[in-house]
Amino acid sequence: MLVLGTGGTIAGLAPSAAGNLGYTAAQLGIAALLDAVPGLPAVLSGDVLLSEQVAQVDSKDMSFAIWLALAQRVRHHLSQPDVRAVVITHGTDTLEETGYFLQAVLPAALIHAKPVVLTCAMRPASAQTPDGPQNLLDAVAVARTDGACGVMAVCAGVVHAGLDVQKNHTYRLDAFSSGDAGVLGHVEEGQLRLARNWPLAIAGYAHNAIDVISSETTWPQVEIVMSHAGCSGAMVDALLCQCRAGLPVRGIVVAATGNGTIHQDLEAALRRAVQAGVKVVRSTRCTNGRVLPTGASEFAHSNGLSPVKARIALMLELMLGPQAR
Ligand code: SIN
Repeated sequence: MLVLGTGGTIAGLAPSAAGNLGYTAAQLGIAALLDAVPGLPAVLSGDVLLSEQVAQVDSKDMSFAIWLALAQRVRHHLSQPDVRAVVITHGTDTLEETGYFLQAVLPAALIHAKPVVLTCAMRPASAQTPDGPQNLLDAVAVARTDGACGVMAVCAGVVHAGLDVQKNHTYRLDAFSSGDAGVLGHVEEGQLRLARNWPLAIAGYAHNAIDVISSETTWPQVEIVMSHAGCSGAMVDALLCQCRAGLPVRGIVVAATGNGTIHQDLEAALRRAVQAGVKVVRSTRCTNGRVLPTGASEFAHSNGLSPVKARIALMLELMLGPQAR
């Protein structure tokens, strides 16, 4: 089994053990994090555990370069016959984006056969009672479960599918939700209690997605704008000015109100964007539910994806072609 480190609070350090806040994320290397999990050999029951540091970043600063490197390393390791799973330590703040990205770009044949388990922590490694070691232990237990496959996230004893997971609390240790889809399962004393089926690859995605996106020198610029009371088209018009200045914005995701409705002034600006060749997708700022097609809007809906995930889907579509959705 491989554990890939990318940083986050799980690898964070504070000046004192009393500090659950006021720490610096991404300080400890992955080997040190694994050394701090005393129960690991028992859970591994003889399996070899290797680790690799892919990045060391506060996940608010996650970059396309790190995503690509991570996808390439996961694909490499999962392709080895003697590797049964990959676990990834990650910051909580953009974990849902990385989960969606990996589920979208990893070859279906690999993630239908083996699991990729993201894990994280809400308290730094230096805290009096850090949550990272238990989360790591649970992630390894899930990764070793017979039949496990697909991209998942494990936090506070709860297992979420990479497609559904969303951070929905700023402070609680149990900071994630799977929304309407419901959680994938629970880890109880090292045993997974599965609540629904393992996550499958997204139908229709290109199998060679990683190779295609690695050949792009820059990924298409896709921005998120929000519709709200008193909204204007100013954000969209600023993006269109940028286009005219030769810095093309290729896509805009609208975090719309309710079932995808958009303030009339923003909607007018989005029409101007479409005329300028920008692809517009409607998501919703509601935490739960999806934008249901009503036939009343000229803008595509996000297939149930939240704004941040719809943005990744649109970037991939612009790189891979329409078969990516
Ligand atoms: C991060 O996302 O890297 C910092 C915050 C966290 O992990 O909780």
